[in-house]
Amino acid sequence: MRRVITYGTFDLLHYGHIRLLQRAKEQGDYLVVALSSDEFNAGKGKKSYFTYEDRKRMLEAIRYVDLVIPEDNWEQKATDVDKYHIDTFVMGDDWEGEFDFLKDKVDVVYLSRTPEISTTRIKSELSNS
Ligand code: CTP
Repeated sequence: MRRVITYGTFDLLHYGHIRLLQRAKEQGDYLVVALSSDEFNAGKGKKSYFTYEDRKRMLEAIRYVDLVIPEDNWEQKATDVDKYHIDTFVMGDDWEGEFDFLKDKVDVVYLSRTPEISTTRIKSELSNS
């Protein structure tokens, strides 16, 4: 069984997220999503609309997602791939090249982002309407 991992905040879940998760799952048989915790986001100066627990429940309801774990820090990626026996590490291509250091342990795949949709854009367009 090939195991895949990806990382993100997945706030205000939208079709760009769903397409990313669908294509991540197609890389293998079992998809782990490491979901940014509220504390980790606060450290980056970000605040999600939905709490970690609400974002987690929504991800768990998606057929492509097998397991949701917390992302608490920048360093955990190298230990997560061992702990969860990961074969393929997937990120959107906004992170192209950033995680190539994992290539000695796992396949690293950057998937193209879906155009014209993001959480930031949804927030901005709703606040302007
Ligand atoms: N993603 C994607 N296509 C989009 C938006 C996001 O493929 N249009 C992917 C990202 O590349 C990432 C994952 O979905 O791998 C989670 O992204 P996240 O940063 O949580 O979502 P964004 O909508 O990009 O949020 P923000 O606007 O806050 O950056």
